[in-house]
Amino acid sequence: MGEEPWTTVGPRKRRTRRRSTALAVAIPAPASALPTPSTSAPAPSPSEIERLLATLSAQRTSFGRSAFGRALCASAAAELSRRRATVRSAVCVGLGSAGRAEPALRARSLAQLAGFLEVAGALGVAREALVVQDPAFTAVDGALFAALGVRVVQDPQARECVGAAGFLFAPFLEGAVLLRCVLPGVDPLLYVGCEDLADMKYQPFVGSDVELMRQVAREFMANRTEIKIREEFEPDKYIFTGLSMYLKSIEDDEET
Ligand SMILES: C[S@@+](CC[C@H](N)C(=O)[O-])C[C@H]1O[C@@H](n2cnc3c(N)ncnc32)[C@H](O)[C@@H]1O
Repeated sequence: MGEEPWTTVGPRKRRTRRRSTALAVAIPAPASALPTPSTSAPAPSPSEIERLLATLSAQRTSFGRSAFGRALCASAAAELSRRRATVRSAVCVGLGSAGRAEPALRARSLAQLAGFLEVAGALGVAREALVVQDPAFTAVDGALFAALGVRVVQDPQARECVGAAGFLFAPFLEGAVLLRCVLPGVDPLLYVGCEDLADMKYQPFVGSDVELMRQVAREFMANRTEIKIREEFEPDKYIFTGLSMYLKSIEDDEET
């Protein structure tokens, strides 16, 4: 296949054709690695949720028009079509709270939520199959997701919702959380997240389970092709830039 103008496909290495063997045993996360759920958030007012919905709608438009958004949606759709594969569920972990006090962080979570909804929409995922998980969610997020018809779950349920035909989105989720709490036992069609999974030597992990984490990453990557999205999200390049797509490999991904 010729390369599309909007993506840069990373080196296509010959990969084992065995199906990626997701670890059967999940690595328990040490209590210290799990954030404390937020419990003291005030009840949101309807006007606050309306404001967030309006901002989200503008962010969706902005994402859809951005070079990054167009590249990710088009590239994911093209790669899935090449695999004759259809995504059936979309799960987002680690968005952060749209109710955060700091406006820049709030905008960041909303922009990433907008990206998640746009990509899931572009791939034809039904609204009932959209799931989000973040222990930082507050009552504001709960009301926002209820208005959007998106299901909120608690760790470790997100992992159980992904499925083999899933799209997993983890924008800047810490590597250790990803490998301890999300990827074990998970084998999605499409994963979009940070791009250092293939090169674990850059991960400064500590803890007695470092080797297990490396094994989760190795097994996840064993049958996957990484496609880097090099285009920037022009409104703020730090919100998405650096994320990659990882797709289950097929024969055509091999070097010719
Ligand atoms: C580094 S922050 C990234 C937040 C946001 N995506 C961003 O780019 O600003 C990581 C987020 O992951 C969340 N997180 C931690 N453990 C998690 C888990 N087990 N499942 C889902 N989210 C988790 C944290 O609460 C936090 O909001």
